[in-house]
Amino acid sequence: MKKEKYSLLTEQIKALIEGERDVVAVMANVAAAIHEAMGFWWTGFYRVMPKSDGMARELVLGPFQGPVACMHIPFGRGVCGTAWEHRETIIVPDVEQFPGHIACSSLSRSEIVVPVFSQANEVVAVLDIDSRDLATFDDTDRQYLEGICKMIAPLF
Ligand code: SME
Repeated sequence: MKKEKYSLLTEQIKALIEGERDVVAVMANVAAAIHEAMGFWWTGFYRVMPKSDGMARELVLGPFQGPVACMHIPFGRGVCGTAWEHRETIIVPDVEQFPGHIACSSLSRSEIVVPVFSQANEVVAVLDIDSRDLATFDDTDRQYLEGICKMIAPLF
């Protein structure tokens, strides 16, 4: 069931972003497509951006669907900053068990964060998805969401 949904979603996203070049427009529609198809609680992107001092970098909220969320996440902090630091997908079955989890919404119970790599193999963004249920995300989510993130990588 989940695989079929993701398979259709992947085809939809492929068609949606074909020939598009604006990364914000693409992230916006990708977040909306995932959110609608899968019925998640919060679906969105954080981008790696220079901080106001122009030196260090941080994650800054990008296009998303769902309730308002925190706008700045430091490197190595929360699930998003940890996925950025470790350059790998993180699945959190119970956010209360993840040390340093940043609670944007008290209703979020489980989470997956997938890094987006540029063509130069740098983490340029993360895709963050929250669920109101425990243990929503598994290897199927990882596999398909990593595939979707690879599809948008050439835009960075
Ligand atoms: N929970 C995330 C913060 C972002 S919100 O979930 C939208 C984290 O710990 O990085």
